[in-house]
Parts: sequence; C-alpha cells; structure tokens
Amino acid sequence: MSHNYTDLLEAARQAREQSYSPYSKFRVGAALLCDDGTMITGANVENASFGLSICAERSAVVRAVAEGRRSFKAIAICADGKRPTPPCGACRQVLLEFGPDMDVIMGGEQGAEGETLTTTVRDLVPHAFLDFPGGRTARDETETA
Ligand code: THU
Repeated sequence: MSHNYTDLLEAARQAREQSYSPYSKFRVGAALLCDDGTMITGANVENASFGLSICAERSAVVRAVAEGRRSFKAIAICADGKRPTPPCGACRQVLLEFGPDMDVIMGGEQGAEGETLTTTVRDLVPHAFLDFPGGRTARDETETA
C-alpha cells in the first residue's frame, strides 16, 4: 500500500456520526477516495423493515456515482467498537463493480489511532462475478476514456 490513508480513515470515522441505526445501534461510516482525489462519504441507514437497511459502503458508492464519479482508488470503513469491521458480502459485490483493485482500509471507532486492516476488494472476493459476455462495466468505461 503506497498511500497513507490516515485522512480517509478520519473521514470515515466522522461519517459514522451521521449513521441512522436506531435498530442495530451499530454505527458505520465509509469514505471513498475517487480517482480525481475527492473524498465521498456514506453512513449506514436503517429501516423499520430491516431488510431495507443500507450499509455505509453502499451509501458512499451510490452517492459518488450520483455525483458523477465511477472510479475509485480506495475505501475506508470505520465502525463502532475497537476491531476493524470488514464489508458484508453485498457491499463487496458492489465495490467490485467500480474497482476490484481498490484498497479497502478497515478501522474501528478510533480510526487510524486504533487497530486497522488493509486489503483489496479482489482479495475479499475470490472467484468474483465481475461481468458477463456482452456486458459493459464502469471499469470498461474507465479503460477506454
Ligand atoms: N453495516 C454496514 O454499514 N457495513 C458493513 O460492512 C456491515 C454492516 C451496517 C448494516 C446495519 O445497519 C448494521 O451495520 C448492523 O448490521
């Protein structure tokens, strides 16, 4: 990992403050580092119909794409508790769509001051479903841009 992700972890730690999680009471924040250097954050947003809850990682991706960004270098995730929280399976699949090689930096509520774990999306999803014949992905768009 060549980049120092301290700022990104701090953005994720702060984004966690915006979590809407009255049911689980487990706050999660995420911060995406876009290819153009901007940071876009997200937080988990729960619902009384539990299955409709959206994780912090997907909330950040949806926000970024809605703001015109489709290419990311990294995502930092900070959740309540001391231990780093890895992204759920659904979020891993959504992250794959926009960059299998992006770095994933996980921290706890202490952010860069506490225990952290760093990996890549590809390493989190062995044998990933990335595309299918005739499909065109955000990654193809970036390659031909
Ligand atoms: N959650 C996330 O936001 N990201 C993850 O990677 C794991 C789980 C949220 C979903 C739900 O609001 C709460 O944590 C408890 O599962």
